[in-house]
Amino acid sequence: MTRDHDQDRGLAPATILARAGRDVPPPEGNGGPDSGPESPEPEPLVEPVTLASVYRFRGLDQLNEVWDGRQVGHVYRRFSHPNQDSLERLVRKLEGAEEALACSSGMGAIVAALTAHLRHGDAVLGQEGLYGGTQALLAEQLERFGVTARYVPEPTPAAFRQALDEARAEGLRVKVLIVETVANPSLRVAEVPGLVRLAAANGLVLMIDNTFATPLGCRPMRLGPCLVVHSTTKFMNGHSDVIGGVVAGPRNLVRPVREVAMALGLTMAPLDAWLTLRGMKTLHLRFARQQENAAGIARWLSERPEVSRVLYPGLPSHPSYRTARDVLEGPGAMVSFELAGGEPAVARFLSRLRLVAFSPSLGESETTVTYPALTSHRSLAADEKARAGATPGLIRLSAGTEHLDDILADLEQAMG
Ligand SMILES: Cc1ncc(COP(=O)(O)O)c(C=O)c1O
Repeated sequence: MTRDHDQDRGLAPATILARAGRDVPPPEGNGGPDSGPESPEPEPLVEPVTLASVYRFRGLDQLNEVWDGRQVGHVYRRFSHPNQDSLERLVRKLEGAEEALACSSGMGAIVAALTAHLRHGDAVLGQEGLYGGTQALLAEQLERFGVTARYVPEPTPAAFRQALDEARAEGLRVKVLIVETVANPSLRVAEVPGLVRLAAANGLVLMIDNTFATPLGCRPMRLGPCLVVHSTTKFMNGHSDVIGGVVAGPRNLVRPVREVAMALGLTMAPLDAWLTLRGMKTLHLRFARQQENAAGIARWLSERPEVSRVLYPGLPSHPSYRTARDVLEGPGAMVSFELAGGEPAVARFLSRLRLVAFSPSLGESETTVTYPALTSHRSLAADEKARAGATPGLIRLSAGTEHLDDILADLEQAMG
């Protein structure tokens, strides 16, 4: 791992992203007019993909230096490699974190974060409507190892405080709180500042899934210590060609997560890290355009007779309108809407789309829609789906970077 140079302090996220997180060299190391034939070989502006699975050592001294972190270097790819380091450096700078870890998927990041901070007999409080994969992990996997999960109806400090008191009264040993900055598909925004305070006051680890917001929309660590996770598969990579995840936070919270990821083989592969880094170079440009398009789509949908409800945190009608203004840098690039005709209207709409892809993910550079009731929330019971907002008429849209008029024309012909 490398240390960030002082010159990087205060750089804007756009600058950090455009440079792919590369450190700004100190003035004496910059070359300039004096750089002559004896100066080191020019470095490639874009780093190569390093596929080596293992490294060769000059002897025991060097092995010990590298293994114990006194000399920069790598031992074995499951532990770390240069492309992973570069992506981690970029995420660390963007999130304002002491440490970041790149994992083989968003779920890999969540598994590593949870297993590092939980043991047999511990309990988790999660917001209702968490990503289906996270709920399935808690119910179908971690439960087998003696971890209990309880769900909280609102991502607010008051609701979590009450759930914490109830869980403690039941004799549960709560260790971790889990929320999503922006929840799927309700787009409900978590009251992050109060939750950070609640976790700190009770010695709990607060895990925040920041996937929908991206580090450009929210940097929870500015408010206090917490563990931020992302599925980089979504907006951060943005090109529909890599699965990945990251965990970022204070060193004392991320170090144990790294140990788990190394032991379980959950770290990200070199080509995936390289592609994610390349995707992220344009995150600021994509996300600004996607957010602009989402606002235009939400306004347009609000006036359609086929649409009974539009959920977009930038609309005053959204329950989180005020929270979004406090917690997020912008209302985001996701819009959910309900077709008045329920599932039959959804089936007709999806089959008529031409430009907009019906594709069960989000954050791509092209606009996509999905149907949460049969995708992300498929495994939930009907009442759980209803509570999470995955109603029969609900479609979730992820705004892309196309021209807004082309997106709206396609939505219109599919509804017509
Ligand atoms: C909010 C959220 N978190 C985590 C994940 C899991 O990420 P991955 O599919 O990269 O494992 C997803 C996937 O859809 C998600 O939407």
